[in-house]
Amino acid sequence: MSRVVFVQPDGTKQEVEATEGNSVMQAATANLVPGIIGECGGELTCATCHVFVDEAWTGALPARVELEEDMLEVTSEEPTDASRLCCQIQLDSSLDGIVVHVPKTQQ
Ligand code: FES
Repeated sequence: MSRVVFVQPDGTKQEVEATEGNSVMQAATANLVPGIIGECGGELTCATCHVFVDEAWTGALPARVELEEDMLEVTSEEPTDASRLCCQIQLDSSLDGIVVHVPKTQQ
């Protein structure tokens, strides 16, 4: 199991447990985390799984693929260097405890 910590815009934290191999989006939707919708089921066609990865974890992730870059242009909140579509973050032991921030406008 891997743990994921979701931080809401008001600072509220929710830690959930997820199966390794699942995505951060799947961890969110399985635990009803507010603000992570995952409408397309991880097919990179909706951008409703936008998160800002906590500064301490950005270096632990592989680079974005081109389609993810493209979809980040249509998120509800302006993306930053820390932005990821969390359906593309696959959990493994190296990401145990990853912290991601939910955008305010995705509520
Ligand atoms: S769930 Fe649709 S782009 Fe991530």
